[in-house]
Amino acid sequence: MVEKAKILVVDDEVNLLKALSDILKKNGYEVAVARDGPSALQILQKDSFDVALLDIRMPQMNGVELLEKLKAQHQGMEVIVMTAYGTIETAKRSMKLGAYDYILKPLDIDEVLMNIGKIVQLRAVAREAHFLESQLQEEHGYKNIIGKSKQIKDVVETIEKVAPSDSTVLIVGQSGTGKEMVADAVHYSSRRCARPYVKINCAAFPENLLESELFGYEKGAFTGADKQKKGKFEVANGGTLFLDEIGDMPLPMQAKLLRVLEQGEFERLGGNEVIRVDTRFIAATNQNLSKLMQEKRFRNDLFYRLNTVIITLPPLVERSQDIPILVGHFLEKFATQMSKKVPKVTQEAMGLILSYPWPGNVRELANVMERAVIFSEAGEIRPCHLPPNVQKGYAESAPETLPSDLSLESVESRHISDVLKLAKGNKNEAARLLGIHRETLYKKIKRYNIQEN
Ligand SMILES: Nc1ncnc2c1ncn2[C@@H]1O[C@H](COP(=O)(O)OP(=O)(O)OP(=O)(O)O)[C@@H](O)[C@H]1O
Ligand SMILES: [Mg+2]
Repeated sequence: MVEKAKILVVDDEVNLLKALSDILKKNGYEVAVARDGPSALQILQKDSFDVALLDIRMPQMNGVELLEKLKAQHQGMEVIVMTAYGTIETAKRSMKLGAYDYILKPLDIDEVLMNIGKIVQLRAVAREAHFLESQLQEEHGYKNIIGKSKQIKDVVETIEKVAPSDSTVLIVGQSGTGKEMVADAVHYSSRRCARPYVKINCAAFPENLLESELFGYEKGAFTGADKQKKGKFEVANGGTLFLDEIGDMPLPMQAKLLRVLEQGEFERLGGNEVIRVDTRFIAATNQNLSKLMQEKRFRNDLFYRLNTVIITLPPLVERSQDIPILVGHFLEKFATQMSKKVPKVTQEAMGLILSYPWPGNVRELANVMERAVIFSEAGEIRPCHLPPNVQKGYAESAPETLPSDLSLESVESRHISDVLKLAKGNKNEAARLLGIHRETLYKKIKRYNIQEN
């Protein structure tokens, strides 16, 4: 049921009070009346209203005085002032004091109803927008970031602090540590939460395509540009642009991005018109930007522009206090999705989960928990419901003789090559197993010069 809007009418003329109140009630409003300022204030102590109709000329406390009090104490209520021709100046003054509008006496009842109708409608729209915003915040805000370790609490605290500002945020951390989740939380906890939120994975496009994705293009800018297209910078105007995998952005693009970050303006490809945008930027990477800078693969000036606020997500092994609570969270999530009872984890199984190093971080933990819910029996997760690598533990599966080159890159290159073999050369499958984008896989194959057969 739609709640009835509530109106308070304040006037010293009893007849007018009665007539107005009758008409408003007939039009579906809930009405209270007061004959002077002090009694209006008394009523407002116990009850709240959407709109107040105030007569200007009243004994004891005139309408303007009352209006000032109302605007100070009851900010949620709109006020319409009723005035005779002689007091029109006062009416104008009351507008300056925050009245929504004034209506001339003798009253034109249609005008009164129309004004009230407008306010009620505006308030309904504002309420709806507010409701949507709080729903978005609930679904994607920082409250969904699970963890009780000091590191995660610090992350959440930083998000709370930085979200309301427009400052650029750089999120770093290994794959699967929750970077995108943090980016979402920053956007949805900001005042831009109901505005566009655009995401682009910089690793997923070859250089020229990335440029046209970000900047857009004019008709005829290149072969195939048969109509104008807006880029992500423009689409995200008023909202937030999330540049994921920024460490994989080609160098020339980095220079172009820097200009947009610094000046908030750019041209579409093939265009001369300078387009200004008001976009908040969030960037994330699982790469070591300091190392990329040393290797001249990431621009220092871009890094300094991005590093105003850095949020670092530590790998899950460094915050094992978060593991049990995350386990509980994912078990509940997947059991609910599968309409199963939430299973219990035996002590033995929890021991294995806690001693496994989780190289794929929270994403890997979520996948393992999903699998465990599927395989669980009699409402229990036992060691046999965990994948072999978790059962064995990392220490046991590590080879006794280690390869000579232990740099992360060569380990990564070997691992990709192994997974490719396992997937019989199927890159979609290999990317899925590795938990990375297909395009990211292509890049890595190229970078490490991995032979595919
Ligand atoms: N603290 C957390 N609480 C609850 N869920 C989490 C948390 N951290 C990560 N997740 C979940 O783990 C999964 C992976 O997170 P996300 O996609 O944000 O990681 P990422 O760091 O962006 O990974 P990648 O570098 O591979 O893109 C998502 O399903 C996310 O919801
Ligand atoms: Mg991500």
